[in-house]
Amino acid sequence: METKQPVLSLKDIRKVFPGVVALDNVSIDFYPGEVHALIGENGAGKSTFIKTITGAHAPDGGTITVEGDCYTAMTPLIARQHGIECIYQEFNLIDALSAAENICYGQKLGKLVNQKKMNKIAQELFDDFGVDINPETPVRELTPGHMQIVEIAKAVSKDAKILILDEPTAPLSIAEVEILFKIVRRLRDKGVAIIFISHRLDEVFELTDRVSILRDGIYITTLNTKETNRAELIKNMVGREMSATFPPRNAQIGDVCLELKNLTGNGVKNISLKARSGEVLGISGLVGAGRTEIMKVVYGAEKKQWGEVYINGKLANITSPHDAMHKYGICLIPEDRKREGCFLSETISWNTVYNVLPKISHLGVVDQKEEGRIADFYGKSMRIKAPDLKRTKVFTLSGGNQQKVVVAKAMAVEADIVIFDEPTRGIDVGAKYEIYELINDMCEHGKCVIMITSDMEELLGMSDRIIVFGEKCLAGELEKNQFSQEKILDLASSSQNDIGA
Ligand SMILES: Nc1ncnc2c1ncn2[C@@H]1O[C@H](COP(=O)(O)OP(=O)(O)OP(=O)(O)O)[C@@H](O)[C@H]1O
Ligand SMILES: [Mg+2]
Repeated sequence: METKQPVLSLKDIRKVFPGVVALDNVSIDFYPGEVHALIGENGAGKSTFIKTITGAHAPDGGTITVEGDCYTAMTPLIARQHGIECIYQEFNLIDALSAAENICYGQKLGKLVNQKKMNKIAQELFDDFGVDINPETPVRELTPGHMQIVEIAKAVSKDAKILILDEPTAPLSIAEVEILFKIVRRLRDKGVAIIFISHRLDEVFELTDRVSILRDGIYITTLNTKETNRAELIKNMVGREMSATFPPRNAQIGDVCLELKNLTGNGVKNISLKARSGEVLGISGLVGAGRTEIMKVVYGAEKKQWGEVYINGKLANITSPHDAMHKYGICLIPEDRKREGCFLSETISWNTVYNVLPKISHLGVVDQKEEGRIADFYGKSMRIKAPDLKRTKVFTLSGGNQQKVVVAKAMAVEADIVIFDEPTRGIDVGAKYEIYELINDMCEHGKCVIMITSDMEELLGMSDRIIVFGEKCLAGELEKNQFSQEKILDLASSSQNDIGA
């Protein structure tokens, strides 16, 4: 390999938050024309590290050298002047503005910034990516997958020299991931340095040239992707060997406990399906296929147009999430944690018991011991990384740890039917295993788990049966002996109107 100069060089970067050393003298070099993965468990310091590059955080020590200029702290302006663009883990779009306006926001388009011009820029990018998004749609009406594509379009349109992607694929489906990878490879070939954070190791192997590992704020090592393997990466991330990805399943599948008959609403048509106690029913489909939308109807968060929901054979009339949870024993763990998953400015323990407050209160006073016990149980079993469950506010947690709080909050309801929408998005390998164990345990206790997931490995590894959505309707159903990635993708993209089940 020719000797190239790094375009970006971080040396001895240190960052301390109250009670946490997020980065403990981390040094990493980044080269042009290279995709560099940054991996580590939830809370390892990945997002904090990249925020020091973009100027969102000032480090407490160390230096950042970019294009030969050395800084002790970046500012967003300096970062932008050096062509540093970042797609953050949490969306950074302005809800009320259109896709096109978001893409062009803050860019110099001449004096006459008109709608037409912005729409044209956006349309060209979407066409180039091969995605069907209307530039005029307000961002709040887009699916998370499409929001992410808008984020990517926004960064790409700015001619980045250093492009940072913090878990960009988490909200994307397989087809969209391919689009993203195509864009990333094209930028890499043009000489852009790319920093890629992901919890999906198959993506690290598919896309990256080198991989750096952080653990608990400490730099562990940098490896050539071609010369390492999954086991070595995991061992470096978690600090111990981890042989299996999925825990063994022993649940007995029982009677049908949830049945949808021609359920229609929230833009989705005629969904009929059955789910049994003890079963994990996997739900697959492209982003925007209507999986989340119909489950929100089941959960009473969105209006039903027609069709029926039966619970344990009885017709149910679910008109609100409160009803769903407390009258019918259904719980939904949403995909969009920031908007509907939890209260970011409250503590972990407060969030965990929020749904069961009436159960653990006496005469309006919360039983502190009980709160502590419940928070402790889920905090420990999912290894939520925080200085103090009772004091730490959720917004200070790393992305993956916030997701764990969302899961804990719903699990604490102890509902009989639990709908997970992308349960492990952004969660590291170790904690994923713990969540799978909790799911198996629920099934062994006769509960029914419905799991919407875009993670193919998880879908195949955890489901007893898989239902595939086409565009806003059912595309098919697969029994365990029929599972294959090809079949699922085939069904998902065929989007015919024939209704399975
Ligand atoms: N604003 C903040 N205030 C207090 N603590 C913070 C803040 N931001 C991050 N931390 C802490 O710093 C540590 C590193 O967090 P960071 O977000 O960098 O992790 P990460 O590697 O990106 O994890 P994930 O995979 O979950 O996204 C965590 O312990 C987190 O709780
Ligand atoms: Mg992060």
